[in-house]
Order: sequence, then structure tokens, then C-alpha cells
Amino acid sequence: MSALLSHTIGIPNDLEAFWMPSSANRAFKRRPRMVASAKDMYYYSPDGSKILDAGAGLWCTNAGHNRESIVAAIQKQAAELDFVSTFQYGHPKAFALASRIAELAPPSLDYVFFANSGSEGVESALKIAIAHHNVRGKANRVRLIGRERGFHGMCFGGISVGGIVHVRRLFGSLLAGVDHLPSTYNREQQAFSKGEPKWGAHLADDLERLVQLHGDTIAAVIVEPMAGSNGVFPAPQGYLERLRAICDKHEILLIFDEVVTGFGRLGHAFAAERYGVTPDMIVFAKGVTSGTVPMGGVIVSKAIYDSFMKGPDHASELPHGFTYSGHPLACAAGLATLDLYRDEGLFERVKNMEPLWSEAMMQLKGPGVLDIRTVGLTCGIDLDPIRDAPGKRGFDAGEIAFFDQKVMIRASGDTIILAPPFTLSESHIGEMVDRVRRAIDAVM
Ligand SMILES: Cc1ncc(COP(=O)(O)O)c(C=O)c1O
Repeated sequence: MSALLSHTIGIPNDLEAFWMPSSANRAFKRRPRMVASAKDMYYYSPDGSKILDAGAGLWCTNAGHNRESIVAAIQKQAAELDFVSTFQYGHPKAFALASRIAELAPPSLDYVFFANSGSEGVESALKIAIAHHNVRGKANRVRLIGRERGFHGMCFGGISVGGIVHVRRLFGSLLAGVDHLPSTYNREQQAFSKGEPKWGAHLADDLERLVQLHGDTIAAVIVEPMAGSNGVFPAPQGYLERLRAICDKHEILLIFDEVVTGFGRLGHAFAAERYGVTPDMIVFAKGVTSGTVPMGGVIVSKAIYDSFMKGPDHASELPHGFTYSGHPLACAAGLATLDLYRDEGLFERVKNMEPLWSEAMMQLKGPGVLDIRTVGLTCGIDLDPIRDAPGKRGFDAGEIAFFDQKVMIRASGDTIILAPPFTLSESHIGEMVDRVRRAIDAVM
């Protein structure tokens, strides 16, 4: 049963035991897309092929791979303090990183709760939302509203508010009391838009309909300012403002899931800044450590934090947390990463690069390309699916891109997603367009 590979090239000789996440396991084990090392904009396969990273790992290595200052910070931290619980104890870097993140967040989002991933960050935000209403005497507010085609990680809360059918359908009835806004995407109205589409702000008004239906039982609405994982869907112009206004009118908390958009992807520390809309909580992960050590969390408003700060002094105010919340290695990596973003002006770089990037991506228009969407340093390219084999064309494009064109892309169904590290140059963009175009041509 086991797939045997030569150990002379330094890769495992048995691929069987690892049940790979969100992967076509059998296809991988037949033809492994194996990577052995990485530096800056490139991965290297065990046989030495140099592969352009068009996805920043999985939306996370924003500062490029294996940056020396981050590596050194992690190594130093591992030798100095490997672990201390942040339940009733602490270490200085957790506090330092929380302050740095709060500084980057919009004013009034002043408190940071650490988790280990985007999914845990989402769960934390949803629990804090319901608990916040509870501690201020509004225990009736228990419902959570997500959005169709939204992605909020893989835990039960996240897939419940999420709206991607294939990540929900095997898992039973999910959380009770959840409803969804409509997706903001409409190809007829928005095809080939650069940045935020003009059409679609009115779709936020659907929240009024849900308020009519559910009355004063809604705790929070969670949306991605730019829905990334399902294929890059930027918020239509004016949509988030409208959502904010309706939430305010009805005492509903607004949560932005910025696991992808946080830390520069749209040219600002957070998309909240790009859109001038301040939510009550921001979920973050990925870019906080540039993908080097797992970390996630949620930034919450002072009003929310303060609502919990009562009761006996010796009692924990929120019965929630994880063994590795604020892990020393993640905090060291996070601090070094934020230094790099600042010192190299990487968020600004994304902002300056956006016009060139979007122009270049639109060159991928061609036969079988149904739509291309760009915003910040991201791009979603919809390929015409093969009849009766949804996802096959996307999968094949990924395989051809990796093995033949030496570029790592992400395919979500038949949508190719590009979201490179922020360190890419103009010539990397050219290289990416050429390689991706050849991969698309090959599957058409
Ligand atoms: C918007 C969003 N939320 C949550 C998650 C889940 O993050 P993680 O995979 O770190 O749990 C992701 C992952 O891509 C995401 O894109």
C-alpha cells in the first residue's frame, strides 16, 4: 500500500500514514507535489526544481520565505523560553505582541485574544460575541449570521457560519441558530472587476430581513471583507458601510474575519482600514507570523473587553482559551514579522503594486476563463468547469502548474487563486503570468 520513494533525494519513503488535510490524498500519493525547502519567492522540490510561490504558502508567508530575522527570533526564543502557560502566568513577548497588533488595528480595537489558527480565532470571536451579550444581560442574543460562500475555518462554529457547501455538507446539522446573508458575487454584474465591484452594496440590506425574521436574538454578523478562500470576492463598494450601519441600528456585533486580509494583503494593516469601516472584532492569523509558527486570534473592542471585567477579582472573566494561546515561539515570530513589515514598508508596497498587479492579471483573460477578480495582491481566476467533473480542471491546472510550469498556485474547485508574498517584483509578476497562462492553456 505504501508509496515508496527513494531516500537518496531526502524525502520520506512512505507516504501512507499522513492523512493530508483538504487534499486529494490518493492523487498526491500517486504523484507527490513535494517541497523540501524555501527561500524568498521560491520553493525547492527534493530534486532541486525551483518553484515560484504564487500563493504565499496558503495566504500566509507575506514577508517571503525563511526570512533571516524571523528565523533567528524563533531560534533564540526556543533556546530561551520554550513554553509557559498563559493561563494565570505570562511572558513579556505575549504582551508586547498584543500591544503591537492593537496598535495596527483601527482605534478602539484595543485588546487581543490569542489562539493558534484562524479557525480557533473564529471560534473565539463567535463565543466572545454571544458571551458579551450574555454578561450585559442580553442572553436572548444568541444567533450568528454568516454569508453564503464565506469561509471561516474548519471548526464547527466556522463551518456553521461559513457558506461553502462542500465544507459543510458531510457534517450534520452544525450549530443551531445560524443564518446567512446572500453572497455578494454576481458574475453578470461584476465580471472582470479590478478592486471592489460597483454592484452589490444593496445585498447588505438583507440583514434587515434577517432582523425582521429573528427579532432581537442576533448576536453577531461575521464576514470576510474580501472572501478569499472560495475565490477572491472583494466587498462591493459601500457594502461594508451598510452592514455596519444596520448592525449599529440593531445592537448586532460586526466581526471581520481578516485571516487572509489582515497584515497587508489589501495594502493596509487590515482591510477595515482600507474600507474605513471599524468592526467590533477582527479575527487574524496567517500573516501575523508570516506563516512561520501557527498563531491566530481576535482583536476586540474596548467596549467588549470592559463588559467582561467584573465579578470577583480572583475569577477568570472568560472561560475560554487554549494551551498554546500566546505561545512564546509564535510571539517571537510575530514580533520579528511585524518589524519586517514595518522596516521594509511591505503593506505600502502592496498598495503601490496593486495597479500593476491587477493589470497583469487581466492579461490572463482567454478561452475558458469565465472571470478574473483582483484586489490588493490577490487574484481569483474562474475556469470553465468540465461538464460532470467539477473541480477537475482546477486540480489539473494545479498539477501542471507545479510539475511543468514550476509555479505553485491554489485551486479552489475550478478557481485558481493567486496571492503571492509581498516581496514580489515586477519581473516575478511577469514570470507568474506566463507560467499560469501556460498551465491554463494546457487544461483548456
Ligand atoms: C477567512 C478565513 N478564516 C479562517 C480561516 C481558517 O484559518 P486556519 O486554517 O488557520 O484555521 C481561513 C483559512 O484560510 C480563512 O481564509
